[in-house]
Amino acid sequence: MPSEDLRAYSDIVIDHFQHPRNAGVLDDANAVGEDRNPVCGDHMRLMLRIEDDAIREARFQTRGCPAAIATSSMATVVLTNMHIDDAAALKRQDFVDAVGGLPKAKIHCSVLAAAALKRALTDYRERAGAGRSE
Ligand code: FES
Repeated sequence: MPSEDLRAYSDIVIDHFQHPRNAGVLDDANAVGEDRNPVCGDHMRLMLRIEDDAIREARFQTRGCPAAIATSSMATVVLTNMHIDDAAALKRQDFVDAVGGLPKAKIHCSVLAAAALKRALTDYRERAGAGRSE
């Protein structure tokens, strides 16, 4: 990854970039969502373990810029112990706000977390639907 000047980022972004929370594979995930930025090629995979319609655990794997990694990391923190209806209501801007804002040119990097979350929740609903015996 090319090194990037971190001075434009908030302290929260730098902290989560340098010390990502919940990075790695979640073996017993029952909801998985991925997204890839078509412009830069950065990629995020979000894995959730949902029980009783609440997100009990969240992990991520992201290959991308500091903003993408920080918003991915923060997303897993925000999502842990959140009801899936509340998670579904989250917008890209919520992740931007949670990391203390992003430089204008980096706002698009937060799309990865929002899009991966949306897909993970769709995956969860599809799996739940497939498991019904009606
Ligand atoms: Fe690709 Fe940030 S530059 S997600």
